[in-house]
Amino acid sequence: MKAFVLRSYGSPDALELTDIDDPVPGDDEVLVRVRATSVQPYDWHLMRGQPYVARLMPGGLGLRRPSISILGADVAGQVEAVGKDVTRFRPGDEVFAMPKQGGFAEYVCVREDELAPKPKNLSFEQAAAVPLAANTALVGLRDRGRIQPGQKVLVNGASGGVGTFAVQIAKAFGAEVTGVCSTRNVDLVRSIGADEVIDYTEGDFTRNGQRYDLLLDVAGSHSGSACRRALTPKGTCVTVGGPAGRWLKPVDRIFLKLAASPFVSQTMVMADVVRCTGNENRQNLMTLTGFIEDGKIHPVIDRSYPFAEIPAAIGYQEEGHAPGKVVITI
Ligand SMILES: NC(=O)c1ccc[n+]([C@@H]2O[C@H](COP(=O)([O-])OP(=O)(O)OC[C@H]3O[C@@H](n4cnc5c(N)ncnc54)[C@H](OP(=O)(O)O)[C@@H]3O)[C@@H](O)[C@H]2O)c1
Repeated sequence: MKAFVLRSYGSPDALELTDIDDPVPGDDEVLVRVRATSVQPYDWHLMRGQPYVARLMPGGLGLRRPSISILGADVAGQVEAVGKDVTRFRPGDEVFAMPKQGGFAEYVCVREDELAPKPKNLSFEQAAAVPLAANTALVGLRDRGRIQPGQKVLVNGASGGVGTFAVQIAKAFGAEVTGVCSTRNVDLVRSIGADEVIDYTEGDFTRNGQRYDLLLDVAGSHSGSACRRALTPKGTCVTVGGPAGRWLKPVDRIFLKLAASPFVSQTMVMADVVRCTGNENRQNLMTLTGFIEDGKIHPVIDRSYPFAEIPAAIGYQEEGHAPGKVVITI
């Protein structure tokens, strides 16, 4: 099969399009013919091996060379073959998953307990936009943020991959939602259901006197103390990400925010779906499928690239201003 293989850390040019053997599914695995995948910050962190501090963290990046050779965290496609213990899927089924690696190839093996049926009302391209980004938004709002109907929720970074799902999911939970984005994305964020939109080039949500019950901080543009200024006394800040750097960012700012938690009245936590189990991810995909098939959320796709242009897609995503998701069709 054709695959983009990463043999050493580097720029998107480090991804080499090559022919390798088709993967063979284990007893509890499903061989998926990848029809679409998506690109996100997770891919270019793994590709560049940055921040360097993440190379020292358990289960993180490899110290000297990539721990993952085929990137691509999300997949949507068709079942090609199944292992002998697989009971829920058979060849031809349309599926999607967040295997965390392997999507930048024509075939990938996915454990049965990580795989979910593709939402019926989405194309492969749309389904591939969902797993990691929407799962992050769901875990951040529901599990870490304990979102409740009627709460005032602010999504900082509302126009990106995670943010466009977060705005819609928060609305689906009955919250009153404010989205923060740049000028050119104000209409987009309003169109996906935000009750209020703050243009961060014109106003600072930490200094406008408003207080929120829940802040989903996707962009990580403010310090922990600034975020707490925008929270009610018992409010919760869920950190998802932040501006990237070579050595420490965003890890340093995230840990500083969490470190304050025992000393303040607000709750400061982090959402990290990469460490969720495959079964948790599958259950979350089923929940998201319910929202999608009920028409409560839909993927916002900025651009779609053909398979051969994965390096260009990563380069574009890495600029950090894609409105919605960047997807790849195979
Ligand atoms: N912890 C996890 O499990 C997990 C999972 C997924 C993602 N993440 C992290 O979450 C972050 C976002 O991921 P993503 O996939 O949503 O990335 P993305 O699609 O690139 O979106 C980033 C968004 O941030 C916005 N932004 C940039 N500067 C901003 C500012 N000062 N204020 C408010 N918004 C700003 C941009 O909007 P404008 O163009 O309007 O500026 C852009 O839409 C990354 O740091 C990523 O690593 C973490």
